Amino acid sequence: MSLKNLVKQKSLRFLLFGGKGGVGKTSCSAATSVWMAENLKKEVLILSTDPAHSLSDSFDQDLSGGEIVPIKGVKGLYGFEMDPKKEYSKYQKTMQESDVEIPKEVGFMMEGLDDLQSMTPPGTDETLAFSKVLEFIETTPEYDKIVFDTAPTGHTLRLLHLPTLLDSFFGKLITFRLKMGQIWGKMKAFLKREDYKEDGLDQMKKLKEVIENANKELTDPKKTSFVIVMISEMMAIYETERLLSNLYEVEIPSSAIIINQLFPENLDCSFCSSRREMQQRNLVEIKDIYAEDFTLVNIPLFPTEIRGLDKLRELGKLLIE
Ligand SMILES: Nc1ncnc2c1ncn2[C@@H]1O[C@H](COP(=O)(O)OP(=O)(O)O)[C@@H](O)[C@H]1O
Ligand SMILES: [Mg+2]
Repeated sequence: MSLKNLVKQKSLRFLLFGGKGGVGKTSCSAATSVWMAENLKKEVLILSTDPAHSLSDSFDQDLSGGEIVPIKGVKGLYGFEMDPKKEYSKYQKTMQESDVEIPKEVGFMMEGLDDLQSMTPPGTDETLAFSKVLEFIETTPEYDKIVFDTAPTGHTLRLLHLPTLLDSFFGKLITFRLKMGQIWGKMKAFLKREDYKEDGLDQMKKLKEVIENANKELTDPKKTSFVIVMISEMMAIYETERLLSNLYEVEIPSSAIIINQLFPENLDCSFCSSRREMQQRNLVEIKDIYAEDFTLVNIPLFPTEIRGLDKLRELGKLLIE
């Protein structure tokens, strides 16, 4: 199925972009979200958890305020860029003002707030991102499509496997996040039992339901698709193989691969021709391996960086039309 038919599918709600750093995930996810908002006339939310704020750069608009904000110039498009450090501060503050019991592992991390980069166990950003996705799945029915930039790594996707999750550090962090986040408020409102006292068991039950629900949504090929972004190099092929086997393991459907930054034909530049030759050779290999099972989309290297709405629209057209 072409990328166009994929994104046009009414049932498709989650579009995740993944691949190595620098290959063009942010550009492609931003361009796709602009295209969908403008051409499908849908309400689209794009989420990023990259601390480098690349989504803000891509849209040339500050999206790091910790709230979902409308993207200027695109009707129906909203963005959210999560800053893990700010998120921690926010939760720390809420926590101090409430009598919620903090899991001790999370408390330990809060103490490391000033030196978050070095204190945070690997995977924490992704875990926060993941719990944010869980939150959005549960609480934002108003968005028709949710695009996820810096998609979960294989490691994080494994969080969808319940039994290993619940007892782990990450399980506790997620429970804590859910507790402090919107889900709890909405759930309480739903139950209409403000005096209701939850205990640890209820929390675990709710977490289990939330994850089971997310698991259902994210493993349903009608609702979810993971788009791999890669460049035409051997290393990238190996990387893609790893990513695909992780996706396969957790049953996240994937049907499209974008091969980005391809050198155009250029007879005047021997450096460019030589790179192009290398890329075209690898492209044959890539077709050989993936063409049968995936839609392959070739995207040329632009003469400039891809920044701002005009460039994103240009890329969106190439990607989807
Ligand atoms: N096809 C392309 N042509 C030119 N520049 C590109 C292309 N794709 C991405 N870029 C640029 O490469 C850099 C990295 O892209 P980005 O989308 O941020 O990658 P990622 O999110 O995978 O790290 C950005 O500066 C972006 O503008
Ligand atoms: Mg990025």
